[in-house]
Amino acid sequence: MALPPVLRDRLRLPAIGSPLFIISHPALVIAQCTAGVVGSFPSLNARPLSQLDEWLAEITETLADWDRKHPDRPSAPFAVNQIVHKTNNRLEEDLQLCVKYKVPVVITSLGARTEVNDAVHSYGGVTLHDVIDDRFARKAIEKGADGLIPVAAGAGGHAGTLSPFALVQEIRAWFDGPVALSGAIATGRAILAAQAMGADLAYIGSAFIATQEARASDGYKQMIVESGASDILYTNLFTGVHGNYLRPSVVAAGLDPENLPVSDPSKMNFGSGGNTDAKAWRDIWGCGQGIGVLKDVPPAGVLIERLIAEYEQAQAELAAKTALVRRASAAQAA
Ligand SMILES: Cc1cc2nc3c(=O)[nH]c(=O)nc-3n(C[C@H](O)[C@H](O)[C@H](O)COP(=O)(O)O)c2cc1C
Repeated sequence: MALPPVLRDRLRLPAIGSPLFIISHPALVIAQCTAGVVGSFPSLNARPLSQLDEWLAEITETLADWDRKHPDRPSAPFAVNQIVHKTNNRLEEDLQLCVKYKVPVVITSLGARTEVNDAVHSYGGVTLHDVIDDRFARKAIEKGADGLIPVAAGAGGHAGTLSPFALVQEIRAWFDGPVALSGAIATGRAILAAQAMGADLAYIGSAFIATQEARASDGYKQMIVESGASDILYTNLFTGVHGNYLRPSVVAAGLDPENLPVSDPSKMNFGSGGNTDAKAWRDIWGCGQGIGVLKDVPPAGVLIERLIAEYEQAQAELAAKTALVRRASAAQAA
């Protein structure tokens, strides 16, 4: 099945800048969209609720203005992430604002609900639901999501444990709609690999934390630049759900990464904020395993240009490699 036009026709690179709790905000989203990838933010980053109205107005107007001035290079669409979890007491109102602004793409996490998909479909929007295994993927599609975001092992924030190969090939065995692969993607080559694996788009989070526009502290950005895959710790201590975090930030918070206590899942809270979740994300820094290649903190637009150049280079290299294989098998057949 083809990608919906909104995800097919306006991207310079097949990628989504994924939603990042606390970190994503209009400046980052606008930088991502004007550089040609889908930009996104969790609606709960806008607090109080009235700020969400302001953010949506700002993003919508700025992108429309960009499109008027750059008809040859229109912006990519933006997305809003809704946490569909019982602790999110703003879901209803946030969703109404998405309807008011006709947010092109809505990304749902931590719960699949038919009425959320129906609300987005009412104005022609597209929904993508993030999942960590095939069972959740099937449930999301049953509830009316248009596409899936398989979150593989090594992804920043709440992540699964499955290999991206296992996850994407299992989902592709029955689902031919839009798929955006999440987890440790930080180069143009990896974006192409995600497509070769069967995904349509790459879903990139941690690489955008180390950009100028990201609303993260300088210490956080610097720790990403200085860390690699083996500095990432997988634990459920901080939010009740397993996720990946920068080990040095756990040490800096006075904890021993080798002897962390076990979390109480009943304390899980994503929605109302002001308690463990916000504190966890502010002091203990979420991050995926793909950061070993990040060596600076550029503007998001510069990172995206770099990814585009790497992606094109990887396409050329792959074409050369596959041509070699074709020549070898043709020679053997002759
Ligand atoms: C600090 C941080 C915060 C995140 N916050 C959210 C969030 O609020 N909602 C969400 O759906 N995903 C969230 N994620 C997950 C990302 O959207 C995405 O799945 C992940 O970052 C992709 O893996 P990568 O970081 O290895 O690129 C977060 C990830 C990180 C690192």
